[in-house]
Amino acid sequence: MGLLDGKRALVMGVANKRSIAWGIATAFQREGAELAFTYPGDRLKGNVVELVATLRDHERVPVLACDVTSDEQIATLFGDLASRWDRLDILVHSIGFSPVEELRGRFSQVSRKGMLDTIDVSAYSLLALARAAVPLFEKAGGGSIMSLTFNAVERVVPSYNAMAMAKAVLESETRYLAVDLGPQNIRVNCISAGPLKTLAASAVKGISRARDLMEEKAPLRRNITQDEVGNVAVFLASDWSRAVTGATIYADNGMNIVGVTD
Ligand SMILES: NC(=O)c1ccc[n+]([C@@H]2O[C@H](COP(=O)([O-])OP(=O)(O)OC[C@H]3O[C@@H](n4cnc5c(N)ncnc54)[C@H](O)[C@@H]3O)[C@@H](O)[C@H]2O)c1
Repeated sequence: MGLLDGKRALVMGVANKRSIAWGIATAFQREGAELAFTYPGDRLKGNVVELVATLRDHERVPVLACDVTSDEQIATLFGDLASRWDRLDILVHSIGFSPVEELRGRFSQVSRKGMLDTIDVSAYSLLALARAAVPLFEKAGGGSIMSLTFNAVERVVPSYNAMAMAKAVLESETRYLAVDLGPQNIRVNCISAGPLKTLAASAVKGISRARDLMEEKAPLRRNITQDEVGNVAVFLASDWSRAVTGATIYADNGMNIVGVTD
């Protein structure tokens, strides 16, 4: 008996096997969920197809295109999904992008376009995807949406710059969506993960230092793994979290509660 038996999950944001989305997907499959994936363009399609081929029952797993900056592609994605699945239970948004020049240097130098592009891909997309997913969630009698954030919102992480602003939008959006979609029994939460070495994180200056600090200073004195984030995602996707919505849950070995770090 898996915690997600009979549930169908669309997982967006797998780039390679180190992606947080891949940790979530493998935890979901372990718990019995049926999966579908997306890729944003031809450059990453091969990676996603190759990884999906390692999953159980991979012949039945839809792998669909969707660049989240395009409303047309979002509409096509959910049209395709509706022709294969009669309902959706879980939507995972594990997507982030900021132009690399906006992730270093001084915050006061962030450009208008850099800030807007970062918020478009990394935050507005959650709202656009949630809206498009509602008809399929309604057929399931409700659903669970989750996204990934980083604690550069409550605390200042110097190089995170435009991405920190996008995460502030994402966390607030989570609460607004939770209120808006709650009456349709759709829950919306986000997971605030500790630093992990992924493709997206490689663009952020100081990620290795942040991991060293976690090991030294986090209450649990260790770094997190993508599997541990996957297990928090299982909880949020499952009926065990049916009373949880609008929340930001930390999967960071307690790092967020540490004030003085010396
Ligand atoms: N790695 C960390 O330390 C860390 C910590 C906390 C939160 N996060 C967040 O986790 C999420 C996943 O990132 P990750 O670290 O697994 O890195 P990743 O590079 O593996 O994943 C980022 C994903 O975003 C996708 N993406 C980018 N632009 C897109 C677009 N226009 N349309 C569709 N998809 C697009 C990429 O294809 C990629 O799959 C991000 O929101 C990130 O900010 C990461």
